[in-house]
Amino acid sequence: MNDTFLQACKGQKTPYTPIWIMRQAGRYLPQYQKIRANVDFLTLCKTPELAAEVTKQPVDILGVDAAILFSDILIPAEKMGLELHFPESGGPIFKEPVRNTALAKNLRTIQPHEDVPYVLDTIKILIKDLNVPLIGFAGAPFTVATYMIEGGSSKHFINTKRMMHTNPNLFNQIMGLITQTTIAYLSAQIETGVHAVQLFDTWAGVLSATDYRNWVFPYVRKTINALKPLGVPIIYFVNNCAGLLHVAADSGADVIGVDWRIDIDDAINRTKQMPVQGNLDPCVLFSTRPYIQIAAKSIVLKASGARGHIFNLGHGILPETPVDNVKALVDAVHEVKRPQ
Ligand code: CP3
Repeated sequence: MNDTFLQACKGQKTPYTPIWIMRQAGRYLPQYQKIRANVDFLTLCKTPELAAEVTKQPVDILGVDAAILFSDILIPAEKMGLELHFPESGGPIFKEPVRNTALAKNLRTIQPHEDVPYVLDTIKILIKDLNVPLIGFAGAPFTVATYMIEGGSSKHFINTKRMMHTNPNLFNQIMGLITQTTIAYLSAQIETGVHAVQLFDTWAGVLSATDYRNWVFPYVRKTINALKPLGVPIIYFVNNCAGLLHVAADSGADVIGVDWRIDIDDAINRTKQMPVQGNLDPCVLFSTRPYIQIAAKSIVLKASGARGHIFNLGHGILPETPVDNVKALVDAVHEVKRPQ
């Protein structure tokens, strides 16, 4: 198995910088669209043979150094007791957002083997088939909470922040339940065979550092502490991380994933030399091949002082991205000669 990704997660030297891409299985790939034409997104997530097939597509097509399980961060939230929809356009929707104690009372933590057997079955297929490590994942508690409280994607997160500031008991109750679910869910993924896990904190960056430290970070640390003994690398991705990095660095994660709004060498210094993942602006993939090569090289070299660097975009790849440019990126990252 090509284990450069795992070596970099552990802070070990690698012959080249490994790369994978957040949301690498998805709509920018014609091969994904072909499968999606016959099946809705949730059914795709819940059909192990198909989910395994789309997980493998970017490994075969792009030559990335890790695969990420095809699923969604909201799959466990559905099993906590919320009706989930993915309309053909626009983001995910929960019909009945959780904004009061009565609704929160109906929520439960999940039992992964009973509630999401298809996720574990997808992992079982993949670990037999892949020649690169498989990354399992979950949403970080706050990011999942925003969807459950807002009912979908949001611009200002008014309902979530209002609950945090005016009804901390309810907010803490919801965060506690999501945390328990996330621990059970990721533990089951690890026990089934994923080689690493990533927690996606897509929306942490909308918070002040004070709110993040008080209301969010303790749940991240609790999740990571519970998973640590299981022995696989844990990546904590924090989108819009610049104002939070000094707090997030103490999460206990093995690797910190950063967006593109911060210089990667700055992130390395501010996390006291943690292995880092990132951090190309996804929109660079809409430029030209020479521009992509220079941008990739610049990040690899800036990160060459890190204990480990896994190349990635600073957030998920966008659906309109030209596939040839993504291939050019993967090749460019693999070809950069780093100072020894
Ligand atoms: O990375 C991968 O290739 C693995 C699969 C994966 C998906 N979603 C598949 C998906 C992963 C890791 C996710 C994580 C996820 N889902 C996050 C965190 C990462 C991020 O991008 O911030 C979030 C916030 C979600 C919630 C979500 N799912 C949204 C907001 C949307 C709609 C908008 C969008 O970006 O497409 C989804 C749908 C979704 N999840 C698709 C895919 C491939 C598109 C579904 C389709 O085929 O139409």
